[in-house]
Amino acid sequence: MTGEKDTASSAPAHERSSAKDTQWEEMAGRLMIPLDYPDASQAREMIGKLRGIPCYMKVGMQLFYAAGPDFVRELKDNGYSVFLDVKMHDIPNTVKGGAQSVTALGVDMFNVHAAGGSAMMKAALEGVELAIAQNPALKRPLVIAVTQLTSTSQSVMNGEIGIPGEVPDTVVRYAQLAAAAGLDGVVASPQEAAAISAACGSGFRTVTPGIRPSGSSLDDQSRVMTPGQAIRQGSHFLVIGRPITAAPDPRQAAENIIKEMILA
Ligand code: C5P
Repeated sequence: MTGEKDTASSAPAHERSSAKDTQWEEMAGRLMIPLDYPDASQAREMIGKLRGIPCYMKVGMQLFYAAGPDFVRELKDNGYSVFLDVKMHDIPNTVKGGAQSVTALGVDMFNVHAAGGSAMMKAALEGVELAIAQNPALKRPLVIAVTQLTSTSQSVMNGEIGIPGEVPDTVVRYAQLAAAAGLDGVVASPQEAAAISAACGSGFRTVTPGIRPSGSSLDDQSRVMTPGQAIRQGSHFLVIGRPITAAPDPRQAAENIIKEMILA
């Protein structure tokens, strides 16, 4: 981590100015790296290896429950966009309070379960507005819905949870519910991105994990797309973990993926 052991200090340090480099920055800003670590020091180590890549950092519940708001502030202080992936799902009043707190923290994106219903999703937006009313300098975060988790099989969805029909139809229905509630997008498989855009409009964001550059290990993902295919399908943000974080040179792996995104 280039000498700065106490902070998430890998603020984009590159000096790029041409139109080509603007495109590079734009694509880098659509790449989300999951910081799936048990503590801040391991997350900082990975951030150090990615120094100079102005990507989004995704902080999930493992890291957030361990390192908390301070670590998110550290990322923000170092110039990163932060997706706080804590998947809120509670009664509307509680989600409103949660949304208010994370907006006040300065995150750029957070998510709630569409299964909480439209009143709960609208309450999240109210929480955002309350935080901004208290501090108008805050940027409005993107509020994203979780549709049907990709770990839920059709038989579990039908037999255990009690939702009939096919998973892709449920995903699109949840996306439409989220769009109607005023949310900004959904987390979904890249396979579903085109159907979601068709149903909810191209401005409705899709945040897509399950991305693998061709030739790389699938790990535990099954239905994957390459970064280029995902961009062509209309994905707005690509969540890419192990192909970058487990690479011998994570920075180079991220650079290669950004190049593929540009060429898509
Ligand atoms: O290493 P990999 O690229 O598979 O990491 C994907 C990231 O996206 C992980 O943080 C994982 O938890 C998250 N994710 C996912 N599938 C979903 C939702 C989130 O892989 N449906």
